[in-house]
Formats: sequence, structure tokens, C-alpha cells
Amino acid sequence: MKEKIEQIKKDFTSELTSVDTEDSLENIRIKYFSRNGLFAQLFEDFKSLPKEEKPKFGQILNIEKQSAQQKFDEIKQKLESNSTDKAEYIDLSLPGREREIGNVHVLNQTLNEVKSIFKGLGFSIYTGPEIESDENNFEMLNFPDDHPARDMQDTYFLSESFLLRTHTSPVQVRLMKKHQPPYRAIMPGRVYRNEAISAKSYCLFHQLEGLVIDTNVTFAELKGTLVYFIKQLFGSDVKYRFRASFFPFTEPSAEVDIWWEPKGKEGKWLEILGCGMVDPNVLNNLKIDSEKYIGYAFGMGIERIAMLKYGIDDIRLFFDNDKRFLNQFK
Ligand code: DAH
Repeated sequence: MKEKIEQIKKDFTSELTSVDTEDSLENIRIKYFSRNGLFAQLFEDFKSLPKEEKPKFGQILNIEKQSAQQKFDEIKQKLESNSTDKAEYIDLSLPGREREIGNVHVLNQTLNEVKSIFKGLGFSIYTGPEIESDENNFEMLNFPDDHPARDMQDTYFLSESFLLRTHTSPVQVRLMKKHQPPYRAIMPGRVYRNEAISAKSYCLFHQLEGLVIDTNVTFAELKGTLVYFIKQLFGSDVKYRFRASFFPFTEPSAEVDIWWEPKGKEGKWLEILGCGMVDPNVLNNLKIDSEKYIGYAFGMGIERIAMLKYGIDDIRLFFDNDKRFLNQFK
């Protein structure tokens, strides 16, 4: 028995020192510590020892098995920590990972450009909420109840008297409710329309509104301001026209078209904004003296302008967040 124990101990130690992979360690575990392993066999032999030898060998066996197990565990731990070291090893010869730099969305670029032109003309910026009352969005702007003019804009109603604003014109109302004239302000913002989604129209888009009210404002000033704006934005060669139109809140009203001729395609007139002299009814609604004050207003779609400026033919591209599209405007 004693020799057998010594032999196993010797073999185990020498096998363990030459171990270098987790597989070979596993083989040692099976050979020595499994249910039919060499230590189990020793305990089997122990059973048939004469009674008086049992205490002595029992002790030796337990001590030897324990110390073998301890050595085994140490090696196992070493092997495992070596392998995690490998996973964390940094290969300095690998090429670096390129960091992508974002850019301002093309709509914001366009909006910033439009804003800066009007800021240069002394306009300040005023904003209002996207959830509006029917009163601000329609009533105060001279859209009477049941008037067909309301059908010009398909509305998302939230309740009887609240809605998602269909245009930025209610911000004019807010400005007039809160402050006394004179005003010279632009009002950018997001608006909503309940329209079928297509390349030409989307359920939300952006507008920029303008309002100037003072004691001596003229239609000529409106024209001069908008012509200056168009030339700044599209270049001084741009061909434009003012065309008579209708809006409930302006009288007279006009729309401005610019001549659009993409390379290799037939040219056409495209509407880019609506404008007019503020209807005295609107001033009266808001308790502003329409004998003393006169003003003009205008409103334009930012998507429409960006589409013209950059030759984009589908409005949905602005909202898809496809990097292949967005990256073209770095
Ligand atoms: N609110 C109009 C629309 O969404 C655009 C507009 C037209 C605004 C004429 C104005 C204006 O301020 O004077 O269709």
C-alpha cells in the first residue's frame, strides 16, 4: 500500500509539472480524481486492509489526496488566468477604429441659413408650441367656423378645441396677444398635416413665419424684403414672380414662385412662400388698433426650400435618418 501511494504521488507530480494546456489538465483530473480514478482505487484498496492498519493509512491517504487536489487547483487557476490575459492582449499593429463625426441635419442647415438672412435684416426670433388651440391656429387668423378655408389644411385634432398646429401662423397670434407692436420677427417651427404620405407631402414638416407690424409698413417693403431674401438664398440671378393668391389672414395676398430648371430637365415655376398684408380683421381680433397699425406677413416651408436648393426629389428622405443621405450634406 505504502509503495503504491508513493508511486502515484510521484507520477502525479511529474505529470502535473509538464501540463501546459487545459486539455492535458483535464486528462490528469480524469486519471486521478474521477470516480474510477487512481485515488478512488486507493480508497477501494484501503477497504481490504487489516483493521489495525486502517487508521494509519486512512490518515496518509486523506492527506495525500488533499495535497494533490490543492496542487491541481493551483495549476488550473494559473492556466485559466493565462488564457484571460490573452483575450485582453492589445494588438498594437491593428489599424485604429475610425470615429465618425456627425453633421448638422440638412434641414437645420437650411433653417440656419434662412434665419441668418432675416437676422441680418433686423428680425428677432419668436417661437410657440406645437399643440395649439383652434382659436390661435384658425379663429384669430380669420378662418371662421365651417369656413371652407379650413379645408386648405388637413388637421390632426386632439380634441374639440385643441390640435397639432397646421402652420406657424398661430405664433403670430401669440406674439400679438402678448406684446404691443411694433414687431419684426420670424417664427420657425414644426407643423403637422393629416395628408397621405408621398414623395411630395409628409405628415410633419417645418415652416418659418415672418411678421412685421408698424405704423408705416407698405407692400413695397414686403416685396423688397422677400426679393432680397430670395436673392441671398438662391443667388442674384434667380428668376422669381409674385402671383396674387388668397389667405384668410392677409389682404391682399400673394405667393412667390421661383423659376426652376434642373440640368437636362424642362423648367417650371415653383411656389416657395405665401405672403400678404395682415388683414385688419386679424388686428381687430387681437385688439390692435388697425387704424394706427399696418403690417405684412409671410410663411415658407423649409423642406420645400431645401429640396429646391439641393435638388432633393423626395420629402421622406429628410425623416428616414439614412446615413447615406445625411452624409451628403457634411
Ligand atoms: N400659413 C400659410 C400656410 O401654411 C402660409 C402663409 C401664407 C403664412 C401667407 C403667412 C402668410 O404668414 O402671410 O399655408
